[in-house]
Amino acid sequence: MKNFPFRYRKIAYAALNVTDLERSVAFYRDIMGLDLVERQPDVAYLRCSRDHHNIVLCQSPTHGLKRVAFELETEGDVEAAFAHFQALGMNPAMVPKKETAALRQGPGFRVRERHSGLLFELFAGATFQARPFVPTVANIARLGHVVISSADFQGTREALVRDFGFRISDFIEDRIAFMRCHPNPFHHTFAVGPASVSQLHHVNFMVTDMDDIGKALYRVKKHDIKIVFGPGRHPPSNSVFLYFLDPDGITVEYSFGMEEFPEEGARTPRRMEAVPESLDVWGAVPDPLFGRSGPIEGAGTAMPQTEQVAA
Ligand SMILES: [Fe+2]
Repeated sequence: MKNFPFRYRKIAYAALNVTDLERSVAFYRDIMGLDLVERQPDVAYLRCSRDHHNIVLCQSPTHGLKRVAFELETEGDVEAAFAHFQALGMNPAMVPKKETAALRQGPGFRVRERHSGLLFELFAGATFQARPFVPTVANIARLGHVVISSADFQGTREALVRDFGFRISDFIEDRIAFMRCHPNPFHHTFAVGPASVSQLHHVNFMVTDMDDIGKALYRVKKHDIKIVFGPGRHPPSNSVFLYFLDPDGITVEYSFGMEEFPEEGARTPRRMEAVPESLDVWGAVPDPLFGRSGPIEGAGTAMPQTEQVAA
């Protein structure tokens, strides 16, 4: 693990498939509090940082997860990572120049984690936007994490550690593995659990103030938005959370607070007891719709040699 060939900076963006782009833009801008940066006929770019986007909404016949992108530290990391995945026979495909220009970022490539079917994009050089992100309804600090459910939980978990270099921070045996993209300090930027069909579980936004959780509770109630879990507090990461549904039924989360790990000498992962109290100490009960956020695009299909992805 010490000599893993590339280093992550952060989770950069999630590309979501949505069935009514206009409706979803309004939700992520007005209810979640993201900044709409750019709108094309079939794609919208929204941000919660100095990046051009942290959420890309793509008009699609079905909702779900299109891909997830991580920024690496340098272009040298991208080169090393590309060679690494090539050597593993995973057929990484460079993002075409036209697309990297549209994404306002440096070179990158896409590679599929075959057990879940999820397409990862790894790149360097997200463009720092001149105009600061100005929070509106919520003090969002960053896109926090993406969680998926995999039809091959063990295969995905092992591949993400072995091939993608993620580190497990905590896990509940057979239920969930919380992972950080070393040397990014946050307890988890990605997590995976099991399911009969691979799907998106939820997308998280970290907020800077406990009040943002309380305000969100009343804001979503006022708009008749379905809350599916919380408010509560996760023991693994010590985060206070609230989960609710976007207009397609994608579970989104605000969370406040998260354990941070040092680059070297981090504590070892904890095996958490498989009981409800390991996910919430306040006694909240998840709704059956919690985490049922639509398919992972391309899951269950053979991996093509090259990818043509529109957004
Ligand atoms: Fe979460």
